[in-house]
Amino acid sequence: MDTIKGLKRTYMCGELREAHVGETVTLMGWVAKERNMGGLVFVDIRDRSGISQIVFEPDNAELLEKATGLHMEYVIAVTGTVRMRSNINENIPTGKVEVEASELRILNTCDVTPFVITDDVKAGEDLRLKYRYLDLRRPTLVNTLKLRHRVTQVARRYFDENGFLEIETPILTKSTPEGARDYLVPSRVYPGNFFALPQSPQQYKQLLMLGGMDRYIQIAKCFRDEDLRADRQPEFTQIDLEMSFVDEDDVMNMNEGFLKRVFKEVLDYDVTLPLPRLTWQEAMDRFGSDKPDTRFGLELCDMSELFDGCGFSAFADTVKNGGTVRAINAKGLSDKLTRKTLDNLVEFVKTYKAKGMAWLIVDENEIRGSIAKFFSPEELKAIADKADAKAGDVILFVADLKASVVYASLGALRCEIAKRFDLIPEGMFNLLWVTDFPLLEYDEEENRYVAMHHPFTSPKDEDIALLDTDPGKVRAKAYDIVLNGYELGGGSIRIYDHAMQQKMFECLGFTPDQAQERFGYLLNAFRYGTPPHGGLAYGLDRIVMLMAGCDSIRDTIAFPKVKDSGELMIASPDVVDQKQLDELGLAIVNKVDRHATEE
Ligand code: AMO
Repeated sequence: MDTIKGLKRTYMCGELREAHVGETVTLMGWVAKERNMGGLVFVDIRDRSGISQIVFEPDNAELLEKATGLHMEYVIAVTGTVRMRSNINENIPTGKVEVEASELRILNTCDVTPFVITDDVKAGEDLRLKYRYLDLRRPTLVNTLKLRHRVTQVARRYFDENGFLEIETPILTKSTPEGARDYLVPSRVYPGNFFALPQSPQQYKQLLMLGGMDRYIQIAKCFRDEDLRADRQPEFTQIDLEMSFVDEDDVMNMNEGFLKRVFKEVLDYDVTLPLPRLTWQEAMDRFGSDKPDTRFGLELCDMSELFDGCGFSAFADTVKNGGTVRAINAKGLSDKLTRKTLDNLVEFVKTYKAKGMAWLIVDENEIRGSIAKFFSPEELKAIADKADAKAGDVILFVADLKASVVYASLGALRCEIAKRFDLIPEGMFNLLWVTDFPLLEYDEEENRYVAMHHPFTSPKDEDIALLDTDPGKVRAKAYDIVLNGYELGGGSIRIYDHAMQQKMFECLGFTPDQAQERFGYLLNAFRYGTPPHGGLAYGLDRIVMLMAGCDSIRDTIAFPKVKDSGELMIASPDVVDQKQLDELGLAIVNKVDRHATEE
């Protein structure tokens, strides 16, 4: 094996251009492709910046012989002269030039890799994650990690320029109520006691405001033991911030500045400010979702009044009993929404707990469909008018006693239809704020109210009196930033008054003693001059996923977890020695040998 002794890399592999023609250069990287053209060897050399083509000419027999021995993913250093290519490759930035090699050093060999490292990789994700260090060499992943780096750098710069201090908060902390299960770390010093990994730095950042830090930012690792989805990881990163002496507008305006800047600097995309704002109620009524994708129409329409006392008993009874009937007008889709597709969509809405889905197809001369027979032609016309339906449109209805079921099923249905029928424009980033969330939501399993955002969020001043009479109606000083149907981030103005915080815990069903036991440090702190404050946290992985156009946040994380929350490459979690358990005073009651189940 050769070494790099005496050799200095002069360029990265993706940097060579016409301007370098005639220059002697040294590149170092991996063999991405080798072709022996009978007396002439071409090698593509790759590093994180891109690829350059190297040519080994027949006139240097010894060098050619060495080049013939190269294989995929060998690590090499090549010195040579840059020249114009005879066959220009327009697809890569270095495609006009190539390097005529004068020296080749083989720095390392490589076993046959479990998959070929290219962007049109055929290998499944599990195999790629097991060998993530090889997968990371793929240009797409490299580019996503570069984009992630840039987003982080813009965040650091922007918030620094606006007076934010970057401060780290502890990773070994205490269980916090943020909706997910905690990851626990046993204490050796106090057997039977546990640290919890932070679900977010929420309480620490509030205490930093108490400590007079005024404006805080952190690129914060957060841990939540919840089921994985394409946009969720158990270990993820927030761009987390908090500000003192602010109201909702201050926080939102500051963040609009950041969003404009990050989209411009990273994607050269112009975000128009101010961003649209929807109240939570409006978002639910129009889109059936508190994270609406506004890149396409298919908005919901409330049809309840029309069906009050109508001849179709399923709808009439729903309305009579306080339920709601809403519809989507699938504009111009009557040709595409065949009977089979409609049946399929009925099954789709059922997964959101809807009992079914009715439809009416508007033709030039008639309105037909699953429920047409229950209505007179005049009534059908009134229904079509209410849904703004014309010939060629299909009206899809869901009725339920629970508005939440109607919202969830129609909200998902509009996205499903948009996806299936290609109604979503490319290259659009529809950012918007959703505001005025309910402060509390009723948890039927737990039989109590839980905080919709978190227990430190302030109620709206004008709704405070409702806390005693109708807690479900209280709105919060909370706001989410939404992008293309994803919740990118969320935040709120916090409670900063001791008595109000105590009252909030009461509403959540904590006795004063329980509140004192779990949150005593925070309640006590609130007695020592807490400034009004508020903030927000973005899911960094989600921002990157949407900016890079990835399907999953796994593609934005160097070493992500998979479905069982483990990591395939280092095979975590893993069992530990008995000695370690003894030191921690732990005995395992029910052990699963993960490696045995993998076999
Ligand atoms: P919240 O819980 O809404 O708020 O989280 C803020 C943002 O973090 C991202 N996020 C996740 N990303 C990946 N995987 C997950 N499991 C995951 N969970 C959340 C989302 C989300 O919008 N402390 C508050 C913020 C505040 O009030 O300032 C908080 O954590 O993009």
